[in-house]
Amino acid sequence: MAETAETAELHFNGEVYQIPVVKGTENEKALDISKLRGQSGLITLDAGFKNTGSTQSAITFLDGEKGILRYRGYTIEQLAENASFLEVAYLIIYGELPKAEQLEHWRNDITYHTLIHEDFKVLLEGFPSNSHPMGVLSSLVTSLTAFYPESLDPVRSSNEVDMSIIRLMAKLPTIAAWAYKNEIGQPLMYPKNDLDYCGNFLKMMFGTPAENYEPNPVVISALNKLLILHAEHEQNCSTSTVRIVGSSQASLYASVSAGINALWGPLHGGANQAVIEMLEAIKADGGDVNKYMAKAKDKNDPFRLMGFGHRVYKNFDPRARIIKKAADEVLSQLGVKDPVLEIAKGLEEVALSDPYFVDRKLYPNVDFYSGIIYRALGIPTNMFTVMFAMGRLPGWIAQWKEMRENGEPIGRPRQVYTGENAREYVSLDKR
Ligand code: CMC
Repeated sequence: MAETAETAELHFNGEVYQIPVVKGTENEKALDISKLRGQSGLITLDAGFKNTGSTQSAITFLDGEKGILRYRGYTIEQLAENASFLEVAYLIIYGELPKAEQLEHWRNDITYHTLIHEDFKVLLEGFPSNSHPMGVLSSLVTSLTAFYPESLDPVRSSNEVDMSIIRLMAKLPTIAAWAYKNEIGQPLMYPKNDLDYCGNFLKMMFGTPAENYEPNPVVISALNKLLILHAEHEQNCSTSTVRIVGSSQASLYASVSAGINALWGPLHGGANQAVIEMLEAIKADGGDVNKYMAKAKDKNDPFRLMGFGHRVYKNFDPRARIIKKAADEVLSQLGVKDPVLEIAKGLEEVALSDPYFVDRKLYPNVDFYSGIIYRALGIPTNMFTVMFAMGRLPGWIAQWKEMRENGEPIGRPRQVYTGENAREYVSLDKR
């Protein structure tokens, strides 16, 4: 971030305050108000951080008006078309595309650490069988701190941080697959290290000791693409959570576990599950798309069109464009005919021409079509957000690492107090 010669002026109570203007490498400009309170006594108020930059970051560039998304300068379109998820994860976390030897090391290290401690089985057994896998995932990720207490050291050496990164990348798919197996009451499957990242996960999800399950290359390739599309998205709700938790010098595992919980909500990553449930509900109710469009527009009706709208994309979400095409390809390659896809297409068609959605710039987001692909791949609905978490992991790691390397201060927003003024305590008999 560079300081510019420009300043903005704030006139307040007869005083004029000069506010420095800073700019990023893509020329986006920001007012640096960090000294404003000391000078004027004023804070800024911005519920939901709709217009507040919380950090400087060199990881992802996003222009929501133009529909641009780039990881470390590379467009999402090129990465989704050409790269493997582990290659993209390396890029996001370490800043450059890996050379062949670096990629081999990275893959080997991650493959070597896919096993999780046998005591995790005991932890898993403690969860009721109908537990949502997101709750299990976040709990077990926090539990990694108990198995690797050295990860708790607040003044971590970069070697230890690298070790925690490898362990987390390696073990998350195993934990995710075990959470699922535990839920459906099947034996847990151990990782098979001759398979790649996606193939290994699929084998642990769908394999059983009784059957020789071979992951389908179409499914592996689709999963690879989906994970890349979800891998990083700058300061969204879960990523900001990871940074703010990490800013207290909490460990990587504790911070990522918090991010998983933030992702779970239906307005964020939980939307992929909510979309399919919504499409199923519309289908069960006769498939009348217009009826649900009317509900979405009615301010007295809490119903929202899940998978539509985005805080930062006010043009098409570029990930949704890629996913929509991939959904068509995957369904035709796997020979799957999914009636909810027709309902999804119908909703999209109506929404794209309806003034309510057009005026508010509400377009399908990444979650609108991802659930349809996950379904075609055989992933159960309550695992969709877990898939999002597996994809987002490199982003959370990179943001936590960057925050730590920048030596950022503890995150601590201010507020405007709206409660009672000071008053005297009233004893119980006089209330
Ligand atoms: N259906 C109907 N109306 C909507 C929707 C929707 N899905 N999204 C926004 N609106 C309306 C909203 O009522 C408001 O109207 P008005 O100006 O008349 O009050 C206007 O559009 C602006 O909405 P907002 O809630 O102020 O926008 P936001 O930036 O705070 O919220 C959002 C963004 C994604 C939470 C919201 O669009 C939403 O709830 N979408 C559905 C949930 C969803 O699909 N979430 C996944 C996001 S993509 C994955 C990820 O990165 O998390």
